[in-house]
Amino acid sequence: MTGVAVIGAGHSVFGTRRDVNIPELCWESMKPALEKANLEPKDIDFFVVGNLGIWSSELAVPSIMAEYADLAPKGSMRVEAACATGSAAVRVGYTTIKSGLADIVMVLGIEKMQESPNPSVIELIGRFGSYFWEFENFGLTFPGYYALHASAYMMKYGAKEEDLGKIAVKNHFYGAKNPFAQFRKEIDVATVMKGPYVAWPLKLFDCSPITDGSACIILASEKKVKELGIEEKVWILSQGVGTGTANLSKREEFTSLASARYAAEQAYKLAGIEDPVKQLDGANVHDCFTIAEIMAYEDLGFCKRGEGYKLAREGQTYIGGRIPVNVDGGLKAKGHPIGATGVSMAVEAYKQLLSKADKGRQADIKNGRWLTHNVGGTGHYTYVTIYGLEKR
Ligand code: COA
Repeated sequence: MTGVAVIGAGHSVFGTRRDVNIPELCWESMKPALEKANLEPKDIDFFVVGNLGIWSSELAVPSIMAEYADLAPKGSMRVEAACATGSAAVRVGYTTIKSGLADIVMVLGIEKMQESPNPSVIELIGRFGSYFWEFENFGLTFPGYYALHASAYMMKYGAKEEDLGKIAVKNHFYGAKNPFAQFRKEIDVATVMKGPYVAWPLKLFDCSPITDGSACIILASEKKVKELGIEEKVWILSQGVGTGTANLSKREEFTSLASARYAAEQAYKLAGIEDPVKQLDGANVHDCFTIAEIMAYEDLGFCKRGEGYKLAREGQTYIGGRIPVNVDGGLKAKGHPIGATGVSMAVEAYKQLLSKADKGRQADIKNGRWLTHNVGGTGHYTYVTIYGLEKR
């Protein structure tokens, strides 16, 4: 089967984007991605759009973009996997090329969440848990779900609210260096601790925000990479996908996500990774809430179970530490436009591996491998993808 490479990547500014409509926001990331790949819309064989869309005006985004960017009549698809929607879109692009059905696929992630008021958005996100058992009868929404994870974790391992806060401090530190981030302000633990509680023990700064934004990558087959003479590229070495139960009461534990462990195991096996800390140069993990990043460290094997909060406490996931994580600001500070997040992670993997990240947030690239971990729901879906400079 052919190798699949990312040959172009683009990113819009994340945040409150009342200045643009949906096609304009998409074009902000599509244009630079096409330019990097030195391609035009007519060169795309197939395109896939990651978009939840339930809170915004246009639901037929592939068709809107076919019209706006002159992509018609090429084939397209809109995909959804809750907060892992962007990675599901990458999956469709990756497997379409792997199967030989296309040579060039554009993967676009877009969300314009702020077209609806926050309480409606929070309610709609809540429906990506388990509507019948948890939302309708008990009113659980996502801050509440992750508060359950956080309180279970704190009780089991003795982590403190300040440890969670350290994740927010790190991600804001790097978000401040990312021109595309929603929050570009450094904070300290005292700021996190002073924030209002959203769902105990999670406070305002433990949460990712509600965001508008888009991200885009162009994928190409090995044959096309050669034909086009593309020099700047990163390969998708592997992708693991896991699915969890919708209803939390059907899960064995609350301090780890089984779907993430499963996806990681698959991705590591396919990419030949036995020791992620030694073999990766860094990672983007799904920090929708600070506790989620700590659980990700453990689910991905960056440390032993129960020790993730110590990595946070000791600052081991800054550049220069054990393994750099979310050095683009993560969902916490860069923002979390749901359909775009997984694609944004791919853009970051591309930039980091090609040493093109902004000043102050470029990791050392020694192994030429970067990981992305994108969770939908509370572990309903997890995608773990390994990107590399060298094809396997
Ligand atoms: N981190 C830091 N600051 C935040 C923030 C966040 N996550 N969210 C909002 N703010 C700031 C705003 O910039 C604003 O600041 P200002 O007054 O200086 O302008 C202030 O807090 C109030 O913003 P607002 O948009 O009114 O917040 P809100 O109270 O309606 O919503 C949350 C805050 C945390 C409840 C909401 O962002 C949320 O639900 N986040 C989680 C989203 C989610 O579940 N995503 C899916 C995850 S899987």
